[in-house]
Amino acid sequence: EKGTYPHYMLKEIDEQPVVIRKIIQQYQDDQGELTISADIIDAVNEADRIYIIAAGTSYHAGLVGKQFIEKMAHIPVEVHVASEFSYNMPLLSEKPLFVFISQSGETADSRSVLVQVKEHGYKTLTITNVPGSTLSREADHTLLLFAGPEIAVASTKAYTAQMAVLSILAAVAGKARGVNLEFDLSQELGIIANGMEVLCDSKEEMEEIARNFLATTRNCFFIGRAVDYYVGLEGSLKLKEISYIQAEGFAGGELKHGTIALIEEGTPIIALATQEHVNLSIRGNVKEVVARGANPCIISMKGLEEEDDAFVLPVVNELLTPLVSVIPLQLISYYAALHRDCDVDKPRNLAKSVTVE
Ligand code: F6R
Repeated sequence: EKGTYPHYMLKEIDEQPVVIRKIIQQYQDDQGELTISADIIDAVNEADRIYIIAAGTSYHAGLVGKQFIEKMAHIPVEVHVASEFSYNMPLLSEKPLFVFISQSGETADSRSVLVQVKEHGYKTLTITNVPGSTLSREADHTLLLFAGPEIAVASTKAYTAQMAVLSILAAVAGKARGVNLEFDLSQELGIIANGMEVLCDSKEEMEEIARNFLATTRNCFFIGRAVDYYVGLEGSLKLKEISYIQAEGFAGGELKHGTIALIEEGTPIIALATQEHVNLSIRGNVKEVVARGANPCIISMKGLEEEDDAFVLPVVNELLTPLVSVIPLQLISYYAALHRDCDVDKPRNLAKSVTVE
């Protein structure tokens, strides 16, 4: 039930800190160590390459998950859009592991890949919010998200839960392979849950950003570099699906290769600047669009902030920033949709689970 909340989407955004704490607790052993069952960790560590298959928001979580797995477990990862995979099947490695990410566990595009790769005898793991769902039943292994039912069509808490579970999978597999992680992941996830709480308490600021940047605009661009690019893709999907504003997310460096032609006086650009190693470059991209009249909304991280930034995120581990940086984007989309009188929980033309290919 949505209780006092006007929409499920807002309730589900607010639930994110609790979900992250629940995930930490569910994946901790009696000693407080993060743990995942040995058969799953063996399946991961026997693979010479991981293929992540997903659609929509879950695909965006997969892009971030690739970074987690490659950096924390040192296993190469490819991420594929489920609907493209069957006819664009890449040359597979010798010992692939297929990881399906799906909130509902019912997405037909993902299931058809699962059926196809099982015919070849490949190992499969589903990461889903729904125990007993089709993708869970049909894969060799399942990891659960523990996010509780997600009712709003626009996925929010499942996305952050997917990234949290992927980070745990990466860290536990990495540890078993002898990779030395320089931080304590459960502690970092705890810091993230606290940071999420601060963001969920910043609704007035987000409403104001939505009003200032998105109230009447036709379109909107999201830019970022490194993991910020992937979060921008998710931000643009959220904005278009619930507010019907034409939105596009892309890598900061790609601007000058075409999209910059679309920048006009007042075009909103939402830029994420949470990554120290690319901070100068993304700030440079913002200057390029401002020189063409864009209206920049910069969301940065404490320590990297500059005077005119629209919002500064609390500090979290640099690799894990997507878990917090997406929250302002979810809230901004929510308020943009409200301003435009859109049906936030049930946007037109969309269904919660897409069971046709
Ligand atoms: C976006 C959204 C969709 C789903 C996609 C995959 O907010 O909800 O893009 O992420 O349809 O669904 P699942 O994760 O259930 O496979």
